[in-house]
Amino acid sequence: MGRNPFVLLVFLIVSSMVAAPIHCKKQTQTLGHFYERKMKRSSGIDKSGFKAVHYINKSRVHTQQGMKEKDRIEKLPGQPGVLFQQYGGYVTVDKAAGRALYYYFVEAYHSKESLPLLLWLNGGPGCSSLAYGAMEELGPFRVHSNGKTLYRNRYSWNYAANVLFLESPAGVGFSYANTTSDYDDSGDSKTAVDNYVFLLNWLERFPEYSNRKFYIAGESYAGHYVPQLAHTILQHNKNANTTIINLKGILIGNAVINDETDVKGMYDYLASHALISDETANGIEKHCNFAPEDDSESSRECDAATDEAGQDIYYVDIYNIYAPLCHNSSLTIRPKEPSVANFDPCSDYYVYAYLNRDDVQEAMHANVTKLDHDWEPCSDIIRRWGDSPSTIIPLLQELMANGLRVWIFSGDADGRIPVTSTKYSIKKMKLAVKTKWHPWYLDGEVNFLSL
Ligand SMILES: *[C@@H]1O[C@H](CO)[C@@H](O)[C@H](O)[C@H]1NC(C)=O
Ligand SMILES: *[C@@H]1O[C@H](CO)[C@@H](O)[C@H](O)[C@H]1NC(C)=O
Ligand SMILES: *[C@@H]1O[C@H](CO)[C@@H](O)[C@H](O)[C@H]1NC(C)=O
Ligand SMILES: *[C@@H]1O[C@H](CO)[C@@H](O)[C@H](O)[C@H]1NC(C)=O
Ligand SMILES: *[C@@H]1O[C@H](CO)[C@@H](O)[C@H](O)[C@H]1NC(C)=O
Repeated sequence: MGRNPFVLLVFLIVSSMVAAPIHCKKQTQTLGHFYERKMKRSSGIDKSGFKAVHYINKSRVHTQQGMKEKDRIEKLPGQPGVLFQQYGGYVTVDKAAGRALYYYFVEAYHSKESLPLLLWLNGGPGCSSLAYGAMEELGPFRVHSNGKTLYRNRYSWNYAANVLFLESPAGVGFSYANTTSDYDDSGDSKTAVDNYVFLLNWLERFPEYSNRKFYIAGESYAGHYVPQLAHTILQHNKNANTTIINLKGILIGNAVINDETDVKGMYDYLASHALISDETANGIEKHCNFAPEDDSESSRECDAATDEAGQDIYYVDIYNIYAPLCHNSSLTIRPKEPSVANFDPCSDYYVYAYLNRDDVQEAMHANVTKLDHDWEPCSDIIRRWGDSPSTIIPLLQELMANGLRVWIFSGDADGRIPVTSTKYSIKKMKLAVKTKWHPWYLDGEVNFLSL
């Protein structure tokens, strides 16, 4: 075609730089878009009760001999020295389909032989536990603004537990399926089965944890994944009349629990925090019905009011309504002064750069099959979601009735699944109060941010 190859090269570089920001789809945007679809009658999403698979037999558990040592991570590129062990690698959850989930495991700083095992799951659906949980929230390291080096998180949960981060379902982060049509066949119940099969195989690989006290934690849409996996474990323990997995409890934060109260709580939060007008709030109150049994298309008045609210919060970081926005997503040559307490709103871009580095992927034993897409914080390749029950309250009730501990927590700056939603959903369970609400002080303050 006689084109100058140099011009083409320059174009490619420029376009890949321009394209980078839109690649960073955020966790809360993902959930917002998912809800917009789910609330439409024509969504095709099955919203009835969770359909658990109650019998997953041993044919999906394979020998894992020697694999633990292969998964050991010597050191992550740019990491400060630490004394705990790290592991990363793949667990095949379906041999025929070639489906494998990626995990990153950090042992506890001390007493790893006695501290519990905790599995962390992020939401979406489609967001990565490595992106958010491990690298921006509760993991031992955070990524500097140079996208190359790491610093320590002194609030890491591996001071209290051995923490396992899982990218789930297939199509999220480094997790994949060779049968790519699997991506269009995703949903809550398949996710629960794959997560359960993952655990059986992982515990085979790390047998010293097979009888350990086990907890499952997660946030946002993992309000579905966590109790669904817990239910699956409970049912299999019951069927087998033995403790296959020693589950003790679950923890869910700013969690999707019950659509009707979650959505109502969201608009009440936006109104009470002066993010939308009284007229808009009244319009939603008067014209919208978020009840799952109401399957009529929403009214024009309701749509107008919710559209108005959507526009009003368009520029707000709905994950933390008081947070600054990321105005310049470029990496810096010298790292900005990091602060765990003062969250850097551009962190997604640092993590994206770091986890897409070849040396990082090699050190983590990730992307060994050379996938044809890059690592993303929230998946672009999972396009269809088959089932998502409108409530998970029956599962929470079942877990409590079986003596499992259930901890529901909520950060009060999240506007997507805010504290109002969480309170309305808990109220629906009509539980007895053992200890009344009281303020929680730390060094004479109720606010942690000053630390
Ligand atoms: C285990 O499950 C597989 C696939 O679902 C099935 O073909 C096989 O017969 C089952 N085996 C037993 C012992 O139930
Ligand atoms: C997927 O395919 C690649 C290339 O054939 C293979 O190396 C890999 O083991 C497969 N993954 C699984 C989970 O079977
Ligand atoms: C389950 O196990 C317990 C103790 O191991 C035993 O007493 C009980 O009979 C078993 N129940 C069934 C249904 O097998
Ligand atoms: C964004 O930050 C980079 C790196 O610090 C800097 O070189 C660039 O000039 C900044 N761009 C804008 C528009 O401020
Ligand atoms: C995997 O590696 C290939 C080849 O280096 C790269 O193009 C792709 O972005 C990577 N994908 C992921 C998910 O890391």
